Amino acid sequence: MAATASLLLAACGDSPLTATEQAAYLALGDSISGRAQLVLMKNVSSAMQAGGPEHAVTFCNTRAVQLTDSVAGLYDVVVQRLSDRNRNPGNKIELPQDHAAWERFATDKAAYVHKDADGTVWYYKPITMGMPTCLKCHGGAEDITEGTRAVLVEKYPQDRATGYQLGDLRGLWKIGLQRKP
Ligand code: HEC
Repeated sequence: MAATASLLLAACGDSPLTATEQAAYLALGDSISGRAQLVLMKNVSSAMQAGGPEHAVTFCNTRAVQLTDSVAGLYDVVVQRLSDRNRNPGNKIELPQDHAAWERFATDKAAYVHKDADGTVWYYKPITMGMPTCLKCHGGAEDITEGTRAVLVEKYPQDRATGYQLGDLRGLWKIGLQRKP
């Protein structure tokens, strides 16, 4: 309890995070993003099995944000997936601190935490094109079936999230850790 109370106080003031606090927030962010990733992957895989990538795109269109929000609700935090070439218009990188995270991940792929002037602790983690399945919906013309492309155009007329290769930086997890570890 004492540890929780001191983390809480530290997060409210403008003092920088101590190494212990950083480690605790990183661990919390890792477990939340890990869980959200798992829930998304499980659901996308079953949708792919049920009806291929076309069907899975429709599924993501209506459920992806809902699914991450439900994981966020479990932890009482705010969870976002952002990108400089976003598919969902709501996932665009706009704030200076998010741009800074993106630039940092171009060279350093390690997750990190950052406390802003209001004392809110933010967790950032890169999302890479980690497996061949990602290519089916984010790859080049040779990876995406015609049917999938048609659904993408219909659901996401402003889509910028294609043309990636395996290993590319695709996006980032951004978690506002209002709740203390
Ligand atoms: C079945 C198609 C499909 C597959 C497979 C897929 N995605 Fe996506 N992805 C989407 C759709 C559709 C969205 C937009 C979801 C929404 O509207 O919230 C999206 C959104 C995202 C976003 C959020 C940023 C943005 O552009 O809106 C990231 C990051 C992302 N995908 C990464 C991945 C990674 C990494 C993989 C592989 C592990 C993957 N995706 C596999 C269809 C797919």
